[in-house]
Amino acid sequence: MCGIAGYVGPRNAIEVVYDQLKRLEYRGYDSAGIAFLNGGSGIKIVKKAGKLTELGKALGDDVPEAHIAIAHSRWATHGGPTDENAHPHFDQFEDIALIHNGIIENYLELRTELAKDGHVFHSETDTEVAAHIIGREFSRGVPLEEAVRVAVGKMRGAFAFVAFSRQEATKFVAARNFSPLIVGLGDGENMVASDVPALLPYTRDVIYLEDDRVATITTSGVTIQDLDGNVMETPVNHVDWDLSAAEKGGHEHFMIKEIMEQPEVVRGCLAGRIDEGGKVRLEQVFSDQVWHGIDRVNIISCGTAYHAGLMGKYLFEKMLRLPTDVFFSSEFRYSDPLLSPDSLAVFISQSGETIDSLAALRLCKQRRIRTLGIINVVGSAISRECDRTVFTQAGPEISVASTKAYTAQCLVLKLLALYIAQVREMPGVRVDEHVAELRSLAGKFESALQVSAQVKTLAEKFIDAKLAFFLGRNADAHATREGALKFKEICYIPTQECPAGEMKHGPLALIEKGTLAVFGATDPDIREKVGSNIREIQARGGFAWVITTDNDDSLDTVGDLVTKIPSTNDPYLSALLSVIPMQLFSYHLANLKGLEIDQPRNLAKSVTVE
Ligand code: AGP
Repeated sequence: MCGIAGYVGPRNAIEVVYDQLKRLEYRGYDSAGIAFLNGGSGIKIVKKAGKLTELGKALGDDVPEAHIAIAHSRWATHGGPTDENAHPHFDQFEDIALIHNGIIENYLELRTELAKDGHVFHSETDTEVAAHIIGREFSRGVPLEEAVRVAVGKMRGAFAFVAFSRQEATKFVAARNFSPLIVGLGDGENMVASDVPALLPYTRDVIYLEDDRVATITTSGVTIQDLDGNVMETPVNHVDWDLSAAEKGGHEHFMIKEIMEQPEVVRGCLAGRIDEGGKVRLEQVFSDQVWHGIDRVNIISCGTAYHAGLMGKYLFEKMLRLPTDVFFSSEFRYSDPLLSPDSLAVFISQSGETIDSLAALRLCKQRRIRTLGIINVVGSAISRECDRTVFTQAGPEISVASTKAYTAQCLVLKLLALYIAQVREMPGVRVDEHVAELRSLAGKFESALQVSAQVKTLAEKFIDAKLAFFLGRNADAHATREGALKFKEICYIPTQECPAGEMKHGPLALIEKGTLAVFGATDPDIREKVGSNIREIQARGGFAWVITTDNDDSLDTVGDLVTKIPSTNDPYLSALLSVIPMQLFSYHLANLKGLEIDQPRNLAKSVTVE
């Protein structure tokens, strides 16, 4: 979503915040702007629709000297991506500049109230309304941080604000409710951003701002208060990511870097969670008593994380016989869900900031349901608000199209299932055999990545595809659904994904000569049935790309192209491995088409608006 940057200190603040915005470009945006103190002539705002380079052109080569600045890259919510709607926004007196991430639900009623008082607005945004609310409080002669605290109390919704005033030009104020804000602590300089990569070139010491907190940031320090003005002690986190971990690492795009990182991600995700004796170690999550008492699991998530949830359902029900439902977060909160008091709500989220999932989490907490997060970003809202969180330890995932995070999510689900089986002493679950398979999994991911060249040839063949089917049964149906999402979101080509056996109930009508159908066929127990479905497609002119395991040759003469991945003793892990060729296929086809890979159109890395 929107990128937020702010700096105060001895460096040229305009250069710093512009650089910070560049490091946040992956978050997706359609306009950008900067506000800075322009010597004695008050606050200057420069803002442009379009990419950051448009803003750079508007700033010109002769960048003014400034030591306080805030900057913003906007993903349009209220009002289109225009210069006027871009942030920052002035208050009614042009005393304050404000940037904002999120949505103010009650902005229209506030705008109406202000307009009655003579306020004039120059944009369609909720942000400008917020600026005027803050400006009205500030004009009463209170410090900016107090004006922000009072103003925040009048607004409903999810937001993160950063503002500074021309009267108090040695500080800026940041406020958070829902949308992420991170304060960076330097030596004689301090800063703020909406994500860590924007801070790393300047500092590794950060404060993850909590909800309902207001930070007053100067060159000499940071004070954090709650909305009543009470000073709050807040822990400082030291970020140990190398900058390279947040850069491309020599690859052309973040997406291919993150696809290729998956063997390392498997190792990182398992690290410290399997002991020498082959036992899974997750004691810090819940007590054994809790694990014994859980009678149902509700997995709540979005997009790729939802697809990981489907894999979790397959696993929990097949291995543990534990009833499991999977919900789209955006549906869950409005569906008045049936939740048993002894159920466990599991929130899967790479960013830990997805507002639909955060809102669903808060609903579950209101219902006093036990909550568990499977999250990648440490310090994120969902991870902080769940009763417990198991981090996926996948490292920063920058590309909007999620790949390594999906793998890590599915692995954490596997570890949880094994841990529950251990606690419940389930005789039918050979934990040692599963653990042995996990120990060899990173190597199998390395092998699976070797199909890249074969898959690229297929991408060349289908570069002009207008539709693609993604089909499978059981876990393969869930894995191919994830493969379809990758294809949709970076190749911009429609897909039809469904269980292979469902095709004949309608989707088969879409098959024409040359239509690509991707089949996941890694499960030996149902492979023959999938073979029949392959023939159904081929009988109507379709092209069947079959992904199966290297110990199977039954489909070698059936598929039009057969891609082999390493076999495992677990259909869950084999299906997980089958996503690698599909990730690579989408990446190569999008790259061959010359499409934007890491920031696909209309999408953002973390959806912090409803
Ligand atoms: C997947 O490639 C997309 N980036 C998107 O569907 C994503 O998985 C979804 O928005 C959920 O994000 P989260 O995991 O950060 O909550």
